[in-house]
Amino acid sequence: MRAVVSIGGSVLVPELAPERVRAYAEAIESLDADGHAVGTVVGGGPTAREYIGTARALGANEVELDQLGIAVTRLNARLLVAALDERATPTPPEDYDAGLEAVRRGDVPVMGGVVAGQTTDAVATAFAEHVDADVLVFATSVPGVYDADPDEDPDATKYDEITAADLVALIADTGIDAGSNAPVDLLAAKLVQRSGVRAVVLDGSDPGAVARAVRTGEHNGTDIVSGDESDDPVEW
Ligand code: UTP
Repeated sequence: MRAVVSIGGSVLVPELAPERVRAYAEAIESLDADGHAVGTVVGGGPTAREYIGTARALGANEVELDQLGIAVTRLNARLLVAALDERATPTPPEDYDAGLEAVRRGDVPVMGGVVAGQTTDAVATAFAEHVDADVLVFATSVPGVYDADPDEDPDATKYDEITAADLVALIADTGIDAGSNAPVDLLAAKLVQRSGVRAVVLDGSDPGAVARAVRTGEHNGTDIVSGDESDDPVEW
């Protein structure tokens, strides 16, 4: 199985502590040891938000803020590199080709952001498309895709499965990507739709659950499907 795992910064580094990063490294190493090719993309989390908020107050423009965010995603990526064995790329690949080359070598690329104007959700999705991944797992701070913001609406219901086209419409219609509970942003949803890759949104607090989703396709989150069964991963 070839997998890309997008690890939200608030999932990997909710605060600077080694345990969660080590647990993620172990989950990725176990997949690697089983013969799965895994690429990872790490988000910025609360540290990125603090830097961006501070720089915004200082008058930085949006591109400067994005560049700060990218720098923090790469810092967080280096924490995961530190925890992984020598299979990891020593520095975060700064573009998709460098990440693809690492996958072809049999290494584990650990990417952060790549270019202003997007988030690591979109990076992970474009990377999954570039490496022709069988599955893309978004390990996030929300347990899946809901029909409304679960923090705002007590009747919000989680989808077990949603088509990428419906996800794009849901995000575009409700504007939920403007809030903090968006499972993935609109650009990422559109790229999932374009690529046809099987994607999974799940609660990333348990790295073991992420590894199980890659191995077996079983999880408690939401499957994002293309609607064409020929796109389904053949190994499950
Ligand atoms: P994240 O991907 O971490 O944003 O990137 P997020 O989804 O809001 O946060 P978490 O990690 O899931 O909690 C952090 C910031 O870095 C910039 C953006 O400003 C983004 O908000 N960024 C990231 C880019 O500009 N380009 C990228 O390719 C990635």
